[in-house]
Amino acid sequence: MLDLINVSYDTQIPNNVGLSSDRRVLKALEKWHPGYINWWKGLIPQNFQESLVYLRTAISVDPKGWAKFGYVKMPEYRWGVLLAPQVEDRRIPCGEHVGEPAWQEVPGEYRALMRRLIVIQGDTEPASVEQQKFLALSAPSLYDMRNLFQVNVEEGRHLWAMVYLLHKYFGADGREEADELLLRQSGSDEKPRMLGAFNEETPDWLSFFMFTYFTDRDGKMQLEALAQSGFDPLSRTCRFMLTEEAHHMFVGETGVGRTIQRTCEAMNAAGITDPYDINAVRALGVIDLPTIQKKLNLHYTLSLDLFGQEVSTNAANAFNAGIKGRYQEHKLEDDHKLTNDTYPVAEYLDGKILLKDAPALTAVNMRLRDDYTKDAAGGVGRWNAIIKKHNIEFALALPHEGFHRQIGIFNEAPITPDGNVISRDEWDAQRDQWLPSKADGDYIASLMKPVSEPGQYAGWIAPPRVGIDNKPGDFEYVQLHMA
Ligand SMILES: [Fe+2]
Ligand SMILES: [Fe+2]
Repeated sequence: MLDLINVSYDTQIPNNVGLSSDRRVLKALEKWHPGYINWWKGLIPQNFQESLVYLRTAISVDPKGWAKFGYVKMPEYRWGVLLAPQVEDRRIPCGEHVGEPAWQEVPGEYRALMRRLIVIQGDTEPASVEQQKFLALSAPSLYDMRNLFQVNVEEGRHLWAMVYLLHKYFGADGREEADELLLRQSGSDEKPRMLGAFNEETPDWLSFFMFTYFTDRDGKMQLEALAQSGFDPLSRTCRFMLTEEAHHMFVGETGVGRTIQRTCEAMNAAGITDPYDINAVRALGVIDLPTIQKKLNLHYTLSLDLFGQEVSTNAANAFNAGIKGRYQEHKLEDDHKLTNDTYPVAEYLDGKILLKDAPALTAVNMRLRDDYTKDAAGGVGRWNAIIKKHNIEFALALPHEGFHRQIGIFNEAPITPDGNVISRDEWDAQRDQWLPSKADGDYIASLMKPVSEPGQYAGWIAPPRVGIDNKPGDFEYVQLHMA
């Protein structure tokens, strides 16, 4: 049991921000910490709170020190406050202040906008842990359970990172926002999380893998944009968070890949060549490829919605202020102001999809989303290579940007995954061919039986090719049963 009163914050919160000599912020974090631990303890099912989990912990930001592996009980995980090293003479990379020295304090005129962006980012971190809280009960292996918990503790650390910024730079209203971050709950009617996708359920492990592949990748893109911020502490925080985010997407990509692999292996062994013979494939106890495509459709489109309106004055303001840049702003070669540039944005008018040129400044969300789509396509290609290797004629694909949207230009538009506009009635009639149906959900749920013998895997998923931290195949990633 963690001693909450005598916590030595010098050692309990690994940090490289000089917490021990920053009494004001230290006190604020000390006050916030018990609420955080309460939140964590009410969340993860009780038996796992006592398990020893083989986790990596960030204790410094240098490449050798930040990933220390060892067994730890999750409530005793050392959530740290870590910023990437300061870049000497860093400049504001975009907008009207481009080229001026980066800010070390928040400029008064941008305070409200900056706080809002930090709160929105912060809100997603605990939300995903809430969405995933019951998954450990049906983990297909100890390896997967450990990966789930690794993602969870790091999302917890990301919350810490945003809360540190709120406490350090935003005074009383920052403290209030930090408290609110523990009060909202994913899926709650009264106090839901701020963004739609973070109030959806993560009902099964295939959803978890799709979520970490597609939705954590939205997180990556938002962090990339904030890593370009002229507000240097925010930039440094996000740069370090990105190193952790890469693992979350690895969990997603390999999780979906292993699911596909197992399906293909089972089909090959049974001599089934038609991927659409769903009953025959399901009789093998694996997830048929068309259902995997439906899950992909769902999670990809929910993630597209997270980028907000394609054309947005708020986004233009944030860019122009130098608070949020484009993806890899520092590598782009233009004037970084976008005042006279245009960017192609789709338009949906009278049932037709057109492309028009919008002012580039107001289209920065769209541009970030396009970069996201390019990034997300990479893994889909690697999944298809697995299918191809097993000589099965089937290819997964990202659906059209207008399909199944709830935000922006295509909100509620009846568009097929191929990008054809059809009538609302036709769309509704075909919905279950494109998105997971109740029956698909029930089938997947029937496969979600926990496997907790070291080295053993549920029948619907292949083992990983290599272990975490190069551990052997039968390594006990989670010691569940403590004396
Ligand atoms: Fe995160
Ligand atoms: Fe993440």
